[in-house]
Amino acid sequence: MALLYAVLLQVLSWSGLCLFLRLLATGLAGVLGVWTVRLLARHAWYTRRLSRFNTPPTHSWLIGHLGQMRSTEEGLQQVDELVQTYKHSCCWFLGPFYHLVRVFHPDYVKPLLMASANITVKDELIYGHLRPWLGQSLLISSGEEWSRKRRLLTPAFHFDILKNYILTFNSSTDTMHNKWHRLVAEGTTNIEMFDQITLMTLDSLLKCAFSYQSNCQESTSEYVSAIVELSDLVIDRRLRILHHWDWIYWKTQQGQRFKRALNVVHRFTRDVVQKRRALIDQQRETEALTNQSAGQQRKKDFVDIILLSKDEDGQGLTDEEIQAEANTFMFAGHDTTASAICWTLYNLARHTHYQEKCRQELMELMEGREGHEIEWDDLSNLPFTTMCIKESLRLHSPVQAVTRNYTQDMTLPGDLTVPKGVICLVSLYGTHHNPEVWTNPHEYDPLRFEPTGTKSRSAHGFIPFSSGPRFAWYVTLGYRRKQPGLFLIYNPLKQTP
Ligand code: HEM
Repeated sequence: MALLYAVLLQVLSWSGLCLFLRLLATGLAGVLGVWTVRLLARHAWYTRRLSRFNTPPTHSWLIGHLGQMRSTEEGLQQVDELVQTYKHSCCWFLGPFYHLVRVFHPDYVKPLLMASANITVKDELIYGHLRPWLGQSLLISSGEEWSRKRRLLTPAFHFDILKNYILTFNSSTDTMHNKWHRLVAEGTTNIEMFDQITLMTLDSLLKCAFSYQSNCQESTSEYVSAIVELSDLVIDRRLRILHHWDWIYWKTQQGQRFKRALNVVHRFTRDVVQKRRALIDQQRETEALTNQSAGQQRKKDFVDIILLSKDEDGQGLTDEEIQAEANTFMFAGHDTTASAICWTLYNLARHTHYQEKCRQELMELMEGREGHEIEWDDLSNLPFTTMCIKESLRLHSPVQAVTRNYTQDMTLPGDLTVPKGVICLVSLYGTHHNPEVWTNPHEYDPLRFEPTGTKSRSAHGFIPFSSGPRFAWYVTLGYRRKQPGLFLIYNPLKQTP
């Protein structure tokens, strides 16, 4: 005690305080110095290892391409220029912090996307900011953790399950169409399609994932607004380098908004999962008592299936893991689909002769039917419409790029090596607009997807759902039965104005 008192007296004395502050400043300067030296050494090492790649002009050796990456139309034009100039790949660095190799040619894309899942890691630059929202979900996890989740989640995307969702898409689309009719009758002349279609996709996904009738197309839903806000904030954060550090971000206004929206979304999914687990347990007890299958009376949704899914050792996902997957289902499903639908409608509106052909194809398919509800089996009988959708996915890919990190050096054609730890940014947009792969790449031409044309093209020239082990496999499940995986986006075509 006496010793403590003596030390306190010393510290609180003027000279003691000065000494203490001096020691603290020296310590901090030391830490900062070591950090800076390490950062610069790492930067120099990567710059040397990547020197064989083409590097677009930079502001300086240190700043690199910081501030040049944009998620706007100009950003896409910049990718077009990179593709024109460098043909297949180039190197890019964001200050001394991130080193990227950008690839946009199928021969360079293939070895990266086809690499084994064991050596593929999702990088922090793009996926890290999603972690507070999506947790360690399928989209973000890597290695054995990812393989296990993929096995457990695959039943939820089986076509027997997807088939049932068609009725849901029909009903959500009807709600949207009725709303448009009403708005037009009330004198509205402009409708912001992306907002409308986003609400429709969220409405459908909420019904498919949680059997939840949000009515979000007609009235404001706190949960839906929170999802839209989180999606916007994730993009915003990616573009502000200082916001990449958690300890800065959570203190900013955007970070505070993110936290508030996150609370709403997490509370919602936690409630759904907990209540559903209780319901399933209760059903099991009733079944055991009455010797009758109560579960068969209720159609299974996404949460049911993943709650019941078990691995080889009989282990299922924890509540926390299920919440992460449910959040991912909503995040990965709504924006992509809304974007694909909007661009398809936009392209068909601009090319009325293709629109007319699609309409004709649908009318013929529906001929003689009482209602005009699309059914699952119809999806494989719309070849021209499928070509139009594919061409839209090529020209206006909902996902612009996917990024990867590898736990070993990766070899690319031309004897180029991507050192381990460098972020590989596979540009889906760049590959889809590469003139070495596509003639007149900026033109909307669905006939490119005629079966004869597709054979001569590299499989990695068209990758809207990525490719390789991390491919969006729910599409394959659809294709296996010759169904286009884009069932979600057919319906709005049935009444294209
Ligand atoms: C037109 C619509 C869609 C497009 C273009 C699309 C595109 C993609 C792409 C490119 C990836 C790979 C991402 C990466 O490697 O980082 C992906 C992964 C994923 N998508 Fe989609 N997606 C669409 C719709 C959906 C829907 C409707 C859902 C679910 C409801 C969904 C759930 C997922 C999940 C869970 C993954 C992670 C797969 C894994 O890493 O194993 N997506 N998607």
